[in-house]
Amino acid sequence: MISFAGYDDVIQRVYKYKQEHVFQYWDQLIDSEKKALLDELGIIDFDLLEKIFKLKENSVPEDFSPAPYIKLPEDERDPEFMKARDLGVQFIKEGKVAAFLVAGGQGSRLGFKGPKGKFPVGPVSGKTLFHFHAEKIRASEIKYGVKIPFLIMTSRDNHEETVDFFRENHFFGLTPALVHIFPQNMIPSLDLDGKLILSDKSTIFMNPDGHGGSLSALRSSGALKLLEDMGIEVISYFQVDNPLVKIIDPIFIGFHILNKADVSSKALMKAYHEEKTGVFVRFKNGKLGIIEYSDMPQEKIFAKDSEGGILYCAANPAIHLFDIKFVDKITGSSNVNLPYHVAKKKIEAFKDGQQCEITGLKFEKFVFDAIPMAEKTVILETKREEEFAPVKNASGADSVHTAQAMMNALFRRWLSNRGVKIPDVVDVIEISPFFALQESDIPEGTIVPAQEKVYLE
Ligand code: UD1
Repeated sequence: MISFAGYDDVIQRVYKYKQEHVFQYWDQLIDSEKKALLDELGIIDFDLLEKIFKLKENSVPEDFSPAPYIKLPEDERDPEFMKARDLGVQFIKEGKVAAFLVAGGQGSRLGFKGPKGKFPVGPVSGKTLFHFHAEKIRASEIKYGVKIPFLIMTSRDNHEETVDFFRENHFFGLTPALVHIFPQNMIPSLDLDGKLILSDKSTIFMNPDGHGGSLSALRSSGALKLLEDMGIEVISYFQVDNPLVKIIDPIFIGFHILNKADVSSKALMKAYHEEKTGVFVRFKNGKLGIIEYSDMPQEKIFAKDSEGGILYCAANPAIHLFDIKFVDKITGSSNVNLPYHVAKKKIEAFKDGQQCEITGLKFEKFVFDAIPMAEKTVILETKREEEFAPVKNASGADSVHTAQAMMNALFRRWLSNRGVKIPDVVDVIEISPFFALQESDIPEGTIVPAQEKVYLE
């Protein structure tokens, strides 16, 4: 057995759990590397790893049905929706809402190095995803005359770069003290025999613990306490990859408040059976929740309703509202924990003295697993063309090209619906959040210049 002063406990634990292969290069390490390795091993929960290794495959409850949701009204002036909007506006103006962006993912499908939020998406401006999100929050602050705290969850790999990016850009006009950027936790990946993986001679390969780690990271980073002290009651959660998301949405917030919900989620209608989105379901015990596309049984993916439509039609655009007391409750007690999901992934490992690619198991928590823990949940339909243009892939579906085309189409629709004439020569239009956050914000008398690319700011 190896030894290192002050680390007897850690070393014994590693041997007890039969993970001593992580010391195979011990003799080649300098003291600081030995210490770093032992420090990393010291925070690993080996019991938990043993437990989640047994998962191997995700277990999905078999008995569930499609979830009920609030459908969009035929008429925008529907009294329920107007009531929700007025309540939401009031609530926002009272400074009770914070925005929460999860940006810890690795963006590997996009093939972009660095934080995904730095990816440029503006069809005319070339603005990055971070820039879009921050400006929407700033524009909401101006519109509602209130300060809105902005929380951003990063991961170990992209934290520094994210912080630097916001600093270099002067927090895009937001109050720096109200922008809280904090990293999520990491969890080791395992090889197919349940062994820890080395990424070099002295480093354990870990992956971010999934966006489900965001709720506990809110607490451990101190952000939750800060929000509570500020009188925040609702946290508006969104993903980094969707430039169309309505971050501060009065109607959504209004329905959440009216229903005294713990969690509220937006849903959009699935475009086709195999679309890679989670779907909203009702479990046997009556609780609502989401089943991820990769966990959905084939026959349910293709199930049809009585009219031949998609039975599990309510898809997850990953836009949620969390009541702060609910977050406090589920993160406060150690026995309430979100489950881990497992996925087989290619991993860059250091094995047999060289770098190589192996197949391993990555474990992640999903934030939507908190939904079944809620007493009261609201699911509100939203329109894909207004609110969901994810940038996930380098090309094809859900790429920057589809997102930009959707932005262009949406901004054109806003202008046309407000009676603004768009000259034929105009090819692309982008509207800055400061010009309009929604269609009704388009000022009377707006003139679109006759040029190929138009940026209204
Ligand atoms: C996700 C949802 C899916 C939904 C779709 C909509 C999951 C598991 N699936 O799929 O139900 O229909 O979005 O676009 O969420 N993130 C972290 N830390 C992590 C992992 C991810 O912050 O450890 C963040 C990412 O930065 C990103 C978001 O979570 O903002 C989504 O992650 P991603 O892996 O892209 O999820 P999808 O598979 O696209």
